[in-house]
Amino acid sequence: MSVRIIKGSSAPLKGEITPPGDKSISHRSLMIGSLGEGKTSVSGFLNCDDTISTANAMRKLGVEIKIDGSHAEVTGRGLEGLKEPDDVIDAGNSGTTTRLITGLLCAQSFFTALTGDRYLRARPMKRVVDPLRLMGASITGREDGNKLPLAISGGKLKGISYELPLASAQVKSAILLAGLYAEGTTEVIEPESTRDHTERMLAYFGAEVARKGNIIKITNPERLRSGDISVPADISSAAFFIAAALINPGSEILLKNVGLNPFRSGVIDILKKMGGAIDILEERDVSGEPVGDIMVKSSDLHGAVIKGDEIPKAIDELPVIAAVACFAEGDTTIKDALELRVKETDRIKAMASELGKMGADIEEFEDGMTVKGGKLLKGATCSSWGDHRIAMSVAVAATRAAGETSIEDAECVSVSYPGFFEEMERLGK
Ligand code: S3P
Repeated sequence: MSVRIIKGSSAPLKGEITPPGDKSISHRSLMIGSLGEGKTSVSGFLNCDDTISTANAMRKLGVEIKIDGSHAEVTGRGLEGLKEPDDVIDAGNSGTTTRLITGLLCAQSFFTALTGDRYLRARPMKRVVDPLRLMGASITGREDGNKLPLAISGGKLKGISYELPLASAQVKSAILLAGLYAEGTTEVIEPESTRDHTERMLAYFGAEVARKGNIIKITNPERLRSGDISVPADISSAAFFIAAALINPGSEILLKNVGLNPFRSGVIDILKKMGGAIDILEERDVSGEPVGDIMVKSSDLHGAVIKGDEIPKAIDELPVIAAVACFAEGDTTIKDALELRVKETDRIKAMASELGKMGADIEEFEDGMTVKGGKLLKGATCSSWGDHRIAMSVAVAATRAAGETSIEDAECVSVSYPGFFEEMERLGK
């Protein structure tokens, strides 16, 4: 277990940073690239534990994938080219790998077993298993298929129209990937819009995917082509530096080439609503995704209420928003965020606990929390709960706390951001 010490200081964050590639898009580039015909070259690829789990899973299915730093090359095998793996696929800590690949595997003409680390084995899978079973999938597992390990006997699927009971891009994507193979049209109805990277990439590879309001439809294509992909920087990783710059007086940083998919950029709207000085510069389109540079200056922040359709657009950033809220004036309330309880860990409980150790005043409730801002935080011995985003969110709060904070089990940042602490140091913290 590695412990990371963060020294709270009055030093500002200064400089430029290009955060690492987008995790959601990197996963999809490997999976969808594997189904294309020909080579897909991926630049700006996020090389981290989670995406390596996807790469290893696709390799077990017979796909050749070469990764060199932030470049990946996938030799697609076409829609019908995957092979039965000779062993269990281990998705590590990655929910995205597991849920998306389940959609893909239930349509293959072979058997697969799927497992993950102890955190992933505790997370709910019924949300993907239920709709896939309606399509004709044969999936078994612990708790009637709710928990890994899962055993998937691939076979013929039929298209369905499915109203998602919860806003989830992973579930939507699993159904759309299964829909690539299903007879007829597959339709997903979203209660609230979620990240649409799967739809954008499938369309880029030649599939027929259409969105009308909150309904997404896919018809099984004869083939997918290959295509080169340039992955923008991950807004979820950028969020930690945006947050740290806002709360540390005198800071001014420029984040370059950050993905601004409208279903991902909620964190910017929320932090602006709290008074953050954040400007988007040079907005442009790269490989079918909106991208821009982000200028952030330290700001006097005030509390806000964050709820409803703001939640899915900032789902992974809510822990760091809770950290920022400690330094805002007044109360910040996050609600409608029950999903946080089933992420890599229970992120409501984890943030209330760890920020609480530093002196924050947080009231936890079932689907969110209220952070009473303006209390002075002091360094403490904190845990990451084995969750990369908890580790980084605690680190952000620690940059502004008095004294030293130790973060135990800090190595888990490699799940999404291997060089996080080094970048924090480089920018002055
Ligand atoms: C992701 C979707 C979100 C997000 C996760 C990545 C994706 O999960 O929290 O980190 O790449 O599709 P849900 O779909 O479970 O909300």
